[in-house]
Amino acid sequence: MQSVPLTLHRVGFYAGTFDPVTIGHLDIMERASRLVDKLVVGVARNPSKNPLMSLEDRLACVQEVLPILHARTETKFVVIPFDSLLVDAVRKHGATLIFRGLRVMSDFDYEIQMSGVNKRLDDGIESVFLMASERTQFISSSLVREIARYGGDISEFVTPETQVRLLACLQRQKQQSATEKV
Ligand code: COA
Repeated sequence: MQSVPLTLHRVGFYAGTFDPVTIGHLDIMERASRLVDKLVVGVARNPSKNPLMSLEDRLACVQEVLPILHARTETKFVVIPFDSLLVDAVRKHGATLIFRGLRVMSDFDYEIQMSGVNKRLDDGIESVFLMASERTQFISSSLVREIARYGGDISEFVTPETQVRLLACLQRQKQQSATEKV
């Protein structure tokens, strides 16, 4: 078994589709960043999930919150897009730790499978699981999208900047489907 190098400069990787990034993700990012010297936030292109927001919008939403997190934790943050195996992106960016947030029991089933596969693909990368904070345990990106789609208030779940971008995406989508119907 390969051991994770005990370097003085620890780099962590936090990946997701972030369609959109929620305060649940931000909670994990902030707590993960306190355990490393640098946290790379990987925004997956993930076409299989058919994201509502463009990759550019999803990257911008993450980018907008990083100065706030950096001011709180003093950890270096980097946001990158990726369209590869997670372990390849992790390796490419010099990280050795993958951070994952766990909310409910059903997350655990998926995560145990994913961490097992990732370990097989690269034994030098460890997965680290953080329990979602109580106040964010019920949040998911798809629920936020659904609330927004029906005109509900999402201000409790995302930052004001993300809210603006998400609503603009929904507006564009509505206009596009109206044009297609004509
Ligand atoms: N707070 C709020 N929501 C959270 C959360 C938290 N702490 N943790 C997870 N979620 C939500 C996400 O918003 C997402 O919600 P949605 O399904 O409603 O959109 C859901 O939980 C799943 O999140 P996540 O596990 O981060 O999945 P993802 O699809 O956003 O990203 C990747 C998954 C990118 C990490 C994964 O697909 C991947 O590794 N892709 C690369 C290909 C690869 O290597 N595959 C083999 C890996 S085994």
